Amino acid sequence: MKVVFIGDIVGSIGRETVAAYLPRLKSKYKPDVVIANGENAAAGRGLTKSIYQELLFMGIDVVTMGNHTWDQKEILDFIDDEDFLIRPANFSSEAPGKGMTTISKNGVTLSVINLHGRTFLPPHDDPFAMSLELVEEARKLSPLIFVDFHAEATSEKIAMGWHLDGKVSVVVGTHTHVQTADSRILPEGTAYLTDAGMTGPYDGILGMKKEDVLYRFQTNMPTRFEVPKTGRAQLNGMFVEIDDRTGRALKIERIYINEDVPFQS
Ligand SMILES: [Fe+2]
Ligand SMILES: [Fe+2]
Repeated sequence: MKVVFIGDIVGSIGRETVAAYLPRLKSKYKPDVVIANGENAAAGRGLTKSIYQELLFMGIDVVTMGNHTWDQKEILDFIDDEDFLIRPANFSSEAPGKGMTTISKNGVTLSVINLHGRTFLPPHDDPFAMSLELVEEARKLSPLIFVDFHAEATSEKIAMGWHLDGKVSVVVGTHTHVQTADSRILPEGTAYLTDAGMTGPYDGILGMKKEDVLYRFQTNMPTRFEVPKTGRAQLNGMFVEIDDRTGRALKIERIYINEDVPFQS
């Protein structure tokens, strides 16, 4: 099975960039499944129903979330109804939605799991323990398992990679919005990347207008960050190929597209 993953889609500029490049990514990589992190898709904060539907219409099969899951309150009304929208599994057991979904394409089944880190982030349940519970459940259906670990600290993400090596097909980090260059296949067969990066403005700061963020750094005054609506854009993500029988990763390749590093077919 071939999978394309797209790092945190930020605002309308991020969505437009996915719409522009996804057809080309599909003809290059021939993915069976496309997964994207959508926690910033609605103007940088959360996800609305119409934007979720827009992402599916573009050809994204599964949307994962993160610390911005609840920023748009309307998600509380539709998250339980959507099969292919997941939020971190280690949120409170009281939280609506689910942390794992399963998708079958071309006769192959893949489970997708979303987890949330706890270092420099709110104290959710233990993602390491939760991951083992979900992996046990997922393996009853298929050994092909994809994990989006939404976390801040590189060390916590690398720890999750080693924790799940040989147990899942892929561990990819999201949240920092900066792609790391450490893609590899771990010894027991898990494809690993500390952070997939961000899809949105190329000239901002983590997807927000640079002037707003600079003002906050310089003054410590309350500032509302906004996503620039126009300007240069980037798409960050990853391609992985997984053995259909064993669930072991066969290939991992980072996707990093912007005006300085143009798309190569
Ligand atoms: Fe994000
Ligand atoms: Fe995040």
